[in-house]
Order: sequence, then C-alpha cells, then structure tokens
Amino acid sequence: MKLIERVRDMQAWADDVRAGGERIGFVPTMGYLHEGHLSLVRLAKGSSDRTVVSIFVNPIQFGPQEDYNRYPRDLDRDIGLLRDLGVDVTFAPSVGEMYPEGFCTYVDVEGLTEGLCGAYRPGHFRGVTTVVTKLFLAVKPHLAVFGRKDAQQAFVIRRMVRDLNMDVEVVVGPTVREVDGLAMSSRNTYLSPEERKQATVLYRALLRAKELMEGGERDTKVIVGEMEGIVREAPSARVEYIEIVDTEKLKPVPFVDGEVLVALAVWIGNTRLIDNMIVDARGDELNFQI
Ligand code: PAF
Repeated sequence: MKLIERVRDMQAWADDVRAGGERIGFVPTMGYLHEGHLSLVRLAKGSSDRTVVSIFVNPIQFGPQEDYNRYPRDLDRDIGLLRDLGVDVTFAPSVGEMYPEGFCTYVDVEGLTEGLCGAYRPGHFRGVTTVVTKLFLAVKPHLAVFGRKDAQQAFVIRRMVRDLNMDVEVVVGPTVREVDGLAMSSRNTYLSPEERKQATVLYRALLRAKELMEGGERDTKVIVGEMEGIVREAPSARVEYIEIVDTEKLKPVPFVDGEVLVALAVWIGNTRLIDNMIVDARGDELNFQI
C-alpha cells in the first residue's frame, strides 16, 4: 500500500489508474478508524479495481469551540488496518497541503444544511463540502462511500454531487453498531465507562420511535416526546435536537405519512453523539436512496 501526502502525487496516481481503464473507489475519513469505516472500505473495494482511503482531520469543519485539537489521531494504526484490508493508497495530506496560505474558495450547499446539525454547527457543512470537493479533485474517484450515521452529511454530499455535475457515484453504507446498539464513532473514545453505558439511550430512543410507528402512531410530537423521555433516563444526557424530517428537504414534518429521517444529537457529558434511522410510515427501516 502506498502512502501519498501530496495532492499532485495523488492526482498523478489517479490519472495513471484511470488511463489503465480501472475504477477508483474512495472512502474519505478523518482517521482513527473503527469497524464502521472498515465496512465502508469493504464496500468500496467490492465495486472498484483500486481503493483509496483519505485520512485528514479537516480543520474547517470544526467550530472554534469544537474538538479539532483533541480529535483522536493514530495514523500508524490506521495505515496498518488499511494495509491489512488491501487498500491501494492512503491519502494523508497535511493541513498546509490542503489549505495553503491564501486559501479562500468554498463550496456551500444551501437549504439542506440549515436544520439538524447545521443549526448547531454553523459552517460545519461548508467545511465538509469544501474538503470533499478538494478530495474528489485529488483522488478522482469513480465511486465514493460515505457512512449512514452522518445522514445529513450524506444528503448534502448527494445534493452537491448532483448540483455540480460531479462525475462520482455516491454510495452510502449502513451504520455499524456495537452489540448494545451504540453507533460506532471515533468520538465514542471520549466517553467514560459510565457515560459509555448511558450512550445507549440514542439507539433505544430510535427503536422506540420505530416501535411507535409500527403501532400506528403518526404524530411526530408524540414520537419525539417519547424519545426525549428515553434520553432523559441517562443522567449525563442533554438533548441538542430530536427531529423527524422529510428526506427531500430535511424539514420537520408534523405527521409521518411517508419516508422520514428520525435524527438526534445528544450530549453525553462533554461528548456530542448523533444517530438516525430512515423509516417509512409503518416503521420499517429503509436504506439510504441515492
Ligand atoms: O465523515 C467524515 O469523517 C468527514 O466529515 C469527511 C467526509 C471525511 C470530511 O472531512
């Protein structure tokens, strides 16, 4: 496996692979890889001839009070995991390589980025869409795989790719969960053992929403209220948002009468966790449609 740190070298590699008629599959990550990331890498490998994984903790998607500096990093361990999986290239540029002096060009998706996490993390999605565009221009993938846990991000990237006619197939892989249901996330490492136990309230709240819909409940106020009750069972939990939105504009809906995204962001102590489920009115879980 090759480690590439320069955009120019990444582009040269991609040009060679494309000239040979091979398909490039790409998984962008911020590193500190866990099974959730590795499942996305396997998806990429299954649909391409060569696989690239980027590892870049992107400073411009973190707010000033957020965890950019303490975000977990372990490049050597990540490289070992990717080598074992048979990845062809780890692309790990420096911040200076991605954002050289004078950098001032951004990609911004409107509308979809205003609610849910966007309401609490101003500028976050602009940072994500800008870096993903830059990564696409460096890696030149035919296919890129994103995780379902960051559902709003996946909707935003899908929109960006359509709106800007990017010639990249976007694939969204399922959320991988711990045995007790907690969605895997690099940020789970921040949790103390006691907080880790309490963090299961996110998934339990989602299951309760699903169960209510299966039982015929359609009123989103009732469903959200029940979910809040479950989250409150965790003494360290503080709800940032619990919302049920449509899957086109990501706007809250008063009643569930079709496909909806049930999404929540909850602080457990000092750790912000997110999770979601896409379900139809009968409470059946759906795959992410691209
Ligand atoms: O999902 C992530 O890890 C990041 O937001 C991404 C897509 C790698 C962009 O920095």
